[in-house]
Amino acid sequence: MQTIVLATQKGGSGKSTLAIGLALAAIRAGHNVRLIETDPQGTVSNWKRRRPYAAPIIEPIYAAREVEQRLQSLVHDGVTVTIVDTAGGETAATNSAIRYSDFCLIPTRPSIADIEATAATLRVIRAWHKPFAYVLNQTPIRAAARLAGAENALGDEAALDIADIVARPFIVMRNDHQDALSAGLAVCEHAPRGKSAEEMRALWQWVESRLGNAVTATDEPVVEEFVEIPAIIPKWAALPSFDTDSAHFLRAPARS
Ligand SMILES: Nc1ncnc2c1ncn2[C@@H]1O[C@H](COP(=O)(O)OP(=O)(O)OP(=O)(O)O)[C@@H](O)[C@H]1O
Ligand SMILES: [Mg+2]
Repeated sequence: MQTIVLATQKGGSGKSTLAIGLALAAIRAGHNVRLIETDPQGTVSNWKRRRPYAAPIIEPIYAAREVEQRLQSLVHDGVTVTIVDTAGGETAATNSAIRYSDFCLIPTRPSIADIEATAATLRVIRAWHKPFAYVLNQTPIRAAARLAGAENALGDEAALDIADIVARPFIVMRNDHQDALSAGLAVCEHAPRGKSAEEMRALWQWVESRLGNAVTATDEPVVEEFVEIPAIIPKWAALPSFDTDSAHFLRAPARS
């Protein structure tokens, strides 16, 4: 079983929307999928209540200590892909989900504020040495230069090659995602021939191709190579380390 976690502290970046979209794309690709919700806000559970179909099963698990145990038992239930939707902010349940994941996806809108806000999540992912990729979500349809800038900024944040760590395709901002959510459907059910559905299927294929074959985050970002990009690097310097034992960030180093 592969466990894919969608995480970023920034609210509204698309964790729940992508969790649902990817879950249904994975089901249609032949997987036995389970959706775990660790966000008490309940976006996925609420979506399930509106849903006209029984599948997929949604499991709300809000206690960090229950995540590992449940993931282990899902293997015996024949589940092949588990997708975990996490809460915004930094929570013990998100830490635990990342810890027991096989692959982490960090959704972000293509703005510098959103990209910078991914840094804390990336710290946790690095601390657990997990493979990961960013998903650029809610992108404008025509903004090639802006998207290239966003992609480069993500490469700088991670200090890795963007081809390895920025998922394809980008997920464009479209009403289909919101309409599907309110109908209790995924985009590939709501508008199966639409562009949003096509993107979500392609994103699943990209993710699937990376499973077991992805870039693993290293503990220490290679900041030295990027000192010429001042807008990005000072954030690393100010960021506290993540302590995997206590699941807390350590006190931030003093700024010079
Ligand atoms: N590609 C998209 N196009 C249009 N709307 C989108 C897209 N992705 C997400 N949305 C919408 O943006 C809003 C926030 O998305 P979502 O709830 O998935 O974010 P989230 O990261 O789970 O937020 P939270 O941190 O609050 O849990 C929702 O209304 C959702 O329908
Ligand atoms: Mg959410």
